[in-house]
Amino acid sequence: MGQLKKVGVLTSGGDAPGMNAAIRAVVRAAICSNMEVMGITQGYYGMIHDKMRPMTSKSVSNIIHKGGTILKSARSEEFRTKEGREQAYNNLEKHGIDCLVVIGGDGTFNGARIFGHECNIPIVGVPGTIDNDLFGTDYTIGYDTALNTVVDAVDKIRDTASAHNRIFFVEVMGRDAGFLALRSGIASGAEAILVPEIDMDFKQLYTYLEKGHNKNKSSSIVIVAEGEKINGGAIMLAEKIKKEYPNFDPRVTILGHIQRGGSPSAFDRVTASRMGVSAIEALNDGQRNVMLGLVNKGIVLVPFNQALKHKKQLNPGLLELTRVLSI
Ligand code: F6P
Repeated sequence: MGQLKKVGVLTSGGDAPGMNAAIRAVVRAAICSNMEVMGITQGYYGMIHDKMRPMTSKSVSNIIHKGGTILKSARSEEFRTKEGREQAYNNLEKHGIDCLVVIGGDGTFNGARIFGHECNIPIVGVPGTIDNDLFGTDYTIGYDTALNTVVDAVDKIRDTASAHNRIFFVEVMGRDAGFLALRSGIASGAEAILVPEIDMDFKQLYTYLEKGHNKNKSSSIVIVAEGEKINGGAIMLAEKIKKEYPNFDPRVTILGHIQRGGSPSAFDRVTASRMGVSAIEALNDGQRNVMLGLVNKGIVLVPFNQALKHKKQLNPGLLELTRVLSI
C-alpha cells in the first residue's frame, strides 16, 4: 500500500475524559504528515449513516481540556451486521478515506478487528474507557480522571458518614472489571472493596465492618463495583446488612455517569496526546489492526487479537493493601 492520504477518526462506546485530547492529537499529527482528516460523528453509527466532516487544525482548537467528545459517541448494533459494515465501507470509499483511528474500548476494537479484516483497511485503536479494562495497556484514557472524580465524591460522602456514624455502600462504574473500584477504594481509605473478579462473601464483609464498629470507627465506606454479582450490588448489600444486623444504619450512593464527565486530568491529556500522535505514526509505518498501549510509561503496539483475547488482571497486591490498611 502506498502513502496513506486520508484518515477517518471516530470515538465509540462509553465516552471518557481525554477523548477530545486524543482527537486533537490525531488531527494535528495527521496534518503534520500531509494527510487529510475526516471526523466521523457518533462512532460506527456515523460511518454507516455517512455523518462525516473534514477536520482542520482549527476544528480541534480549545478542546484539550473538555470532557465528552466533540465527535460524539454511540454503541452501534447495525455495525454488528455484515450489511451495516458494508454500508460503512461504501461511505469511507465515497470520501476517499483509506485508514482509520478508532478511540474506544473493547467493543470498539472488536468491531474494528472484524471490519479491518473484511474490508482490508488499516485501523489503529486508541484505548479510551474509564474502566481501564483493556489487556495490553497499563492505563486507558479517562481512567485517571474518573478515579479522581470517584475519590473526590467519596471524600465528601466520608464527611456525612462520619457525622452520622454510618456505613455507606458506594457503587462505582465498571461493568465487568474492578479497576476503578480497587484504586478509588485504596485512595479514599475504604474499609472494604468489592470487585467482580474476586468473590467476597457477605459474612466476610460483615466481619470487616463489625471490626470497625467494635473499634468505634465513626464511618465505614464500602466501594462496590457495578459488575459485582455475588452479593447483588450495592443496594442489595445495604438491604441485607440492615436486615441481618440492625445495629448498622447503611446508606447507598450510586455515582453513575458523573464518573464519565468532567475536564480530563493532566495525566489523561498527556496520555491521549501521546497515543493520538503515535496512532498516526503507526499507520504511516504500515501498522494495522493494532491498539496503542502505555506500558511502563512507554508507548507500545498490541494486536487487537491479543488485546481482546486476554483478560487484564487486577493487581492482587492492591487488594491485600486494603485488608492491611482498613484495620
Ligand atoms: O464502558 C464504560 C462504562 O462507563 C461502564 O463502566 C458502564 O457499565 C457503561 O459504560 C455504561 O454505559 P451506558 O452509558 O451506555 O449506560
